[in-house]
Amino acid sequence: MEPSQKHNLSIYTVPTFNKKLYFVCSPPLAAQVHRASKTLSFNPMLSETCRRLAQFDSHSMEIIETNMEKENGNWGAIPVMLEHFSKGLAVGAPNLLELTSTVLSECSNRVNQVSELNSEIYLFEWIRRSFTIANLRTYYGPNHFMATDPELEPAFWEFQSGVLVMMSNFFPSLVVPKAVAAREKLFKGLTRYFEQNRQEQASDFIKKRYKVHRDHGLSVEMCARSDAAFLIGILVNATPTVFWLVANIFSRSTLLEEIRAELDPLIEDVGVRKISVESVQKNCPLLLSTYRETLRHVGIPNSTRLVLKDTVIGDRYLLKKGSVVQVATGAIHADKSIWGPDAAEFNPRRFMASEQKGKAAPSIFTWGGGVTLCPGRHYAMTEILGLTAAMVLSLDLFVDEEGKRLPITRPPQDDDMYPAGVTMPVGDVRVRMVRRDGVSGRIAVEP
Ligand code: HEM
Repeated sequence: MEPSQKHNLSIYTVPTFNKKLYFVCSPPLAAQVHRASKTLSFNPMLSETCRRLAQFDSHSMEIIETNMEKENGNWGAIPVMLEHFSKGLAVGAPNLLELTSTVLSECSNRVNQVSELNSEIYLFEWIRRSFTIANLRTYYGPNHFMATDPELEPAFWEFQSGVLVMMSNFFPSLVVPKAVAAREKLFKGLTRYFEQNRQEQASDFIKKRYKVHRDHGLSVEMCARSDAAFLIGILVNATPTVFWLVANIFSRSTLLEEIRAELDPLIEDVGVRKISVESVQKNCPLLLSTYRETLRHVGIPNSTRLVLKDTVIGDRYLLKKGSVVQVATGAIHADKSIWGPDAAEFNPRRFMASEQKGKAAPSIFTWGGGVTLCPGRHYAMTEILGLTAAMVLSLDLFVDEEGKRLPITRPPQDDDMYPAGVTMPVGDVRVRMVRRDGVSGRIAVEP
C-alpha cells in the first residue's frame, strides 16, 4: 500500500540522497502539475532517455539539449520532433491513418492464420509476437530490421527488461548484462537498416522522423540508437494493455458473450468480415468501458517532471527547484474516495454512462497530461481495440480440461514493477486457441 492510501495524503515527499521526490496523489493537484509545464518540465526525461537508454555521444546530447525548453522559439531537435508526433498522430492526420490502416491489417492477418494452428499457445507470448511484428511492419516497412534479423525480436524484449536499471544508471553492465548486450545488438541491426536506406520503404511517419534527426545533425548511428528507444515507447505499454484487455474478457464468459453481442451486428459481410474501430467506438459501450477499466487497473505510469523553478501548487505546497515531482497514477486509480468502495474490484461497466447516473466518470491518468499528454494514445487505442475485436469476433480461447472448455485464468499483475508503464503479467497463461464456433471467413479490421 502506498503512503497516500495509508494516510490519506494528497501529496507527500520522499527525500533521496541528493534531491527531493514529491508524489502527487490527488486529481486536482495532478492537473496543476500537468498545467505548470513552464516550470515543471518533462523534457529532461526525454534527454535522459537519449543519454542513458540510447547512449547518445556528447555531440548528439548537445544537439538534443539545444533549445530543448523552447527558450528561444519553436526550433531544435526535441521541439520539432515532438511537433512531428503531435501533428502526425492527431485524429484525422494522414500519418495516423496510414499507420492504423497497416497495423490493423497486420493484426487481422495474424488472427486469420489461427484456423490452421488450432493449438495450445502462451497467450502473452502470442500477443507480444503478433504486436511486435505488426508494429515493425507498420512503422519500418516490409524490410524492417527484425525481418532480416529475427534474433532482434527476442533481443528487443531482453533490452526492455533492463530499461529501469539503465534509466536509473545503477551499473547496468553489472546488474543487467544481458539487456545491455541485447541493446548493442539492436543498435547494430537498426544502424544496418538505416545505412542500407531501407527506411525508404517505411511509413511516412518514420521517413519524416529520420529526416528530422538527420536535419538536426545526428549521425546514422545515433538515429538508430534513438529508434531503439522509440520502440520502447510504441511497444512496451501497448502490448501488456492488449493482453490484459483480452484476458479480462476471455476469463469472464458472460462478459465475453455481452461484448460479442455488441460487436457481431457491426460486421459487414463483403467477402471478408469487415469491421471498423470507428464503429466499435460508437456502438460498443461495454467494450469501451472494459478497455478503460483495464487501463485503470494496469495503465499506471507515473507522470514525471523536473522542477525547473520553485513552484507552488494547491496554494500551499512548495516544489523546490531541482527536485522531481511525479503524479502517482497507481494511487489515484485505486483511491476509494474517487472510485467508491469497490475501487479494488474489476467492474467492466464502471465507465458506462448508465453506471454514472448522469455524472461524468472520473478521469484516468494513464496517458499523462498537459502539453505532454501522450501523442500516441489514438494510435494505441485503435490497435488495442482492433486486435481485441478481431480476437473476440473470430477466436475461442479456453483451457481444455479433459474435453471441457473452461474460461482462461488471468495471471497476477507484476505489482513490484516500478510504475514506469503498464503493468506486466507475472508469468504467462497457457490456453487453447481455435476458430470461434460457427464462424467462418476472414476478418478485416479497419480504422
Ligand atoms: C498503451 C500505450 C501507451 C501508454 C500507456 C503511454 C503513456 C504515456 C505517458 C504516461 C506519457 C507521459 C506523459 C506525461 O507525463 O504527461 C507518454 C508520452 C509520450 N508517448 Fe506514450 N503511451 C503509449 C503509447 C504510445 C505510442 C504508441 C506512441 C507513439 C507512436 C507514444 C509516444 C509518446 C511520446 C512521443 C511521448 C512524449 C510526449 C511529449 O513529451 O510531449 N506513446 N506516453
